[in-house]
Amino acid sequence: MRLKNKTCLITGASGGIGLAMVEAFLAEGATVVATDLDADVLRERCAPLAGSERVLSRRLDVTNPDGIATLEAELAAEGVFVNVLVNNAAAITIGKLLDTTVEDLRLVFGVNVEGLFNVTKGFLPGMIARGGGTVLNMASLASVRAMHERFAYSASKAAIAMMTRSIAVDYVGQGIRANCICPARVHTPFIENYLTKYYPGEEEQRLEALSRYQPIGRMIQPAEVASMAVYLCSDESAMVTGGSFVIDGGVMAGDQPLHAA
Ligand SMILES: NC(=O)c1ccc[n+]([C@@H]2O[C@H](COP(=O)([O-])OP(=O)(O)OC[C@H]3O[C@@H](n4cnc5c(N)ncnc54)[C@H](O)[C@@H]3O)[C@@H](O)[C@H]2O)c1
Repeated sequence: MRLKNKTCLITGASGGIGLAMVEAFLAEGATVVATDLDADVLRERCAPLAGSERVLSRRLDVTNPDGIATLEAELAAEGVFVNVLVNNAAAITIGKLLDTTVEDLRLVFGVNVEGLFNVTKGFLPGMIARGGGTVLNMASLASVRAMHERFAYSASKAAIAMMTRSIAVDYVGQGIRANCICPARVHTPFIENYLTKYYPGEEEQRLEALSRYQPIGRMIQPAEVASMAVYLCSDESAMVTGGSFVIDGGVMAGDQPLHAA
């Protein structure tokens, strides 16, 4: 039970990587505050998980600071104090600079950058006051490597990697650790949704290309990201802070084999 004394708040927890983290954290003994835009969907999805009696499912829009303050106060009134914060919620638009509208840019930065700022600003003071805690941010391989047609998203994820380092250096003396995970292509509804929206009729072909992107030859499973999250949120990683950890099936190692060119 690697997360036995941890109370972990996860944003964007109703599907994909967020839900996989809820499942993995419960399996390691954590209490989990699962949050997303729709609390009913969250409740439905968390109910079948082993250990679901340790989940609190709550609506939280990361772009709304008042909602964050209200949630923190409600949790405190119930005696629930977060010591692990996982900023996982995200928005994506697809396109190069000239395809990206200012509304796209504001949406992506509003959720990914300002949302992370809002939630961390809301919960960090309590974590510091109680002696410390851990912040884990979902960045992306797009934080370190420009991905085609991901102009707004990549910029937002690069910002997240640097916000992570800033939090790590600024609060290291107050018992706070901050790290981020940078996955390549993870097979989640996020991918399915944008393929349907941006590449109708080409979904299968695009999915194959996304699998080939990783030299290992397949997409990453959400549970594989959740395993790394367990480590980074547990005391096993007590000496790990300010890090960006790639899970990329070999993308950053070097050239692709010729058959994948
Ligand atoms: N899937 C991938 O290939 C991949 C790769 C690298 C990084 N990531 C990152 O991993 C994280 C999870 O991705 P996923 O693939 O599981 O996506 P997902 O779409 O399944 O999950 C994102 C969640 O964020 C929630 N969300 C959106 N706007 C919100 C808001 N304003 N307030 C609260 N919640 C909001 C959505 O409801 C959704 O449940 C994201 O940060 C994503 O950028 C994903």
